Amino acid sequence: MSLIHPINLLDSYDQIEGKVSWQSPSNIALIKYWGKRPVQLPANASISFTLSEAHTITSVAYQPRKSEWVHFSFEGSTEESFADRIVKYLTSLSEIMPWLQLLSFKIESSNSFPHSSGIASSASSMSALSLCLCDIEKMIHKVPHDNENFLKKASYIARLGSGSAARSIYPRLASWGVSSFLTNGADEFATEVKGVKDVFDTFHDDIIIVSDAKKSVSSSAGHALMDNNIFSKSRYQQANLHMSILLKAMAEGDLMTFGKVVEDEALSLHALMMCSDPSYILMKPGTLEVIENIRAFRKETNLPLFFTLDAGPNVHMIYPDSIKRQVNDFTNSRLVSIAHDGRIIKDHVGLGPVKIL
Ligand code: DP6
Repeated sequence: MSLIHPINLLDSYDQIEGKVSWQSPSNIALIKYWGKRPVQLPANASISFTLSEAHTITSVAYQPRKSEWVHFSFEGSTEESFADRIVKYLTSLSEIMPWLQLLSFKIESSNSFPHSSGIASSASSMSALSLCLCDIEKMIHKVPHDNENFLKKASYIARLGSGSAARSIYPRLASWGVSSFLTNGADEFATEVKGVKDVFDTFHDDIIIVSDAKKSVSSSAGHALMDNNIFSKSRYQQANLHMSILLKAMAEGDLMTFGKVVEDEALSLHALMMCSDPSYILMKPGTLEVIENIRAFRKETNLPLFFTLDAGPNVHMIYPDSIKRQVNDFTNSRLVSIAHDGRIIKDHVGLGPVKIL
């Protein structure tokens, strides 16, 4: 079934008015998406845990088109740079959603996590906005979407806003990209990954905030640098190999193999940044200090505590719920002092976006 339905534009949009709201979470990649092909397609398949506490709530009110096409506010104030990105994004969707041109939108967005927490907000914000757009489309046109196709289209639209946002549409574990190891992998949208042991539904993600400074190189610029990175070909092979090892480990509940792949992925991502031309480093001394402590803890206790990194300095510490008490003691005694202002954001694997009624 095609996701892009030729929508019959209604004769008149004079009467159309309403408002929709969605809450959508961030996600943390286990196999990283790093490098892309036009248009916004991944160079390799990626897989992520959908988070829960770190989310965006977006409301979109729509009415017949007025002189101002889009009014965007973030946490109550107008943010020029965000607004520009939203207008560009909606303009780019005009072919897929031609009705966008016929309405005016008031978009309000807020995050559950502090703006400067170092959590990438594009996954949660772009997925929340995409769900709102698909919902409006469903309401004002007779789009033949069942729930499965509704989510597929939302993921497709989210991907065009930010690649990793495609995965946030699905609960628990989501993959994006074609891989011979994934049954339903697609480059245009993400899918939920099933068939892994239940222990992975209990995973925590405690984010140790090492720095909340703005990144020196954006993710989009980082992806672009992969085009000329001399390691890019081997990186895509490595990601594919990692996918097969990770999925097997998750199906068997082999936590140590799972953790090894996840940590290798995080370090490969940052190694690629260091080997880019121009080279750059997003890790800070505190990042390495946290990693060394996590590795020492694992050596001492043999407990399945692992780290991963986003495109930034903050460390995501992931572990099953069964070792929560030990991790809490370890965090208090060894990590709080390294964290910037002692800040640690606690999250866990979540059930995906929800519509707010
Ligand atoms: C390191 O999805 O933020 O977090 O598609 O340009 O918006 P754009 O990039 P983005 O890249 C995410 C990179 C990553 C890995 C991942 O989430 O897979």
